[in-house]
Amino acid sequence: MIERDQINTRYKELYGQDPDVIAKSPGRINIIGEHTDYNEGFVLPTAIDKAIYVALGKRSDNEIHLYAEDFKESFQTTIEEIAPTQISWPNYILGVVNQLLERNLTISGFNLYIDGDIPVGAGLSSSAAVECAVGYGLNHVYNLGLDRVSIAKIGQLAEHTYAGVKCGIMDQFASVLSKTGHVIRLDCRDLSYQHIPLALGDYEIVLLNTNVKHSLASSAYNDRREACEQAVSWVQEKYPTVKSLRDVTMEMLDELVAPINQEIYIKSRFVIQENIRLNKACEALIQGDIIELGKHMFLAHDALSKEYEVSCEELDFLVDQAKLMDDVVGARMMGGGFGGCTINILKKGAGQHLVSRIAPAYQEKFNLELTAIFVATDNGTQII
Ligand code: GLA
Repeated sequence: MIERDQINTRYKELYGQDPDVIAKSPGRINIIGEHTDYNEGFVLPTAIDKAIYVALGKRSDNEIHLYAEDFKESFQTTIEEIAPTQISWPNYILGVVNQLLERNLTISGFNLYIDGDIPVGAGLSSSAAVECAVGYGLNHVYNLGLDRVSIAKIGQLAEHTYAGVKCGIMDQFASVLSKTGHVIRLDCRDLSYQHIPLALGDYEIVLLNTNVKHSLASSAYNDRREACEQAVSWVQEKYPTVKSLRDVTMEMLDELVAPINQEIYIKSRFVIQENIRLNKACEALIQGDIIELGKHMFLAHDALSKEYEVSCEELDFLVDQAKLMDDVVGARMMGGGFGGCTINILKKGAGQHLVSRIAPAYQEKFNLELTAIFVATDNGTQII
């Protein structure tokens, strides 16, 4: 956690006055259900106690001044000149501003300071947290009247247009709408959701960070999305009412996709089965059967790795090692893939042991440090 005073002080040092508002938006974990969101399926995420903090103050002109503490870097533009930039970090902010302008909402220039404690590149959705903190903060300062779901959607579109990743809604939704102690069972078709208690009994969650992010992550992500859309369009030729993989049955896939393209068949079958796994896992969580929940996580990892092919050697190694330990009931890669973290469910208090068992072998094999991230759940975006 970063103290409010610290953010306020830094903003004042940079811009010479107090900010109008400080917004905080958290990173997220996801218990199960990957690559289902952009196929109108289900996800089971929640916010964590690591967040992005954005301090904002109105200006009397049309200039936008940004400063990112992580990079010790500033960036400047104007409302009229907003466009994607070569430097990566401002895009998550400017993309949101652009979405507000697209909706004909009126804002003036502003000063913005950003800091956070979500490890970048760990698959904990720091970029979604930036988008949501900025959207929420600007909504507050300019009284734009946006509800939480709209702020999540604006963040998602900012990612599409300014970061070039055609992501689903999971990360932004979790950042904005989470409730501490609960996970969100979100239906990504109509955005209906329930908060389900994350009651793990004698178990706890530990993340293991591979500390790698392979460069093909965003292009492979968009490729997967295209493969799913292709499958849908083949099914639609016979079943025109089908809108997404959510409406597609295994029989339809067997009949209409398998004969044309085996790879696309396997990818879309994964999505259908991942939704089924999520529903079973969620039922197990509600029943308090954490061992059963864990089994579905291991199965999900296998399928993400071998069928959807979004894992990598480092992630597979961590899940294989975790599987060997009696205290671990479930583990899998989390998020988009190609690096980032695994999520592990294990006996309370066994986390340190897990890390000290796996870290030396991981270092030896990949010449990389393994870091453990202990997380607690948290509420969604707020003004602090
Ligand atoms: C990334 C995307 C999400 C989701 C996951 C995979 O985190 O931003 O929308 O698709 O990958 O489940």
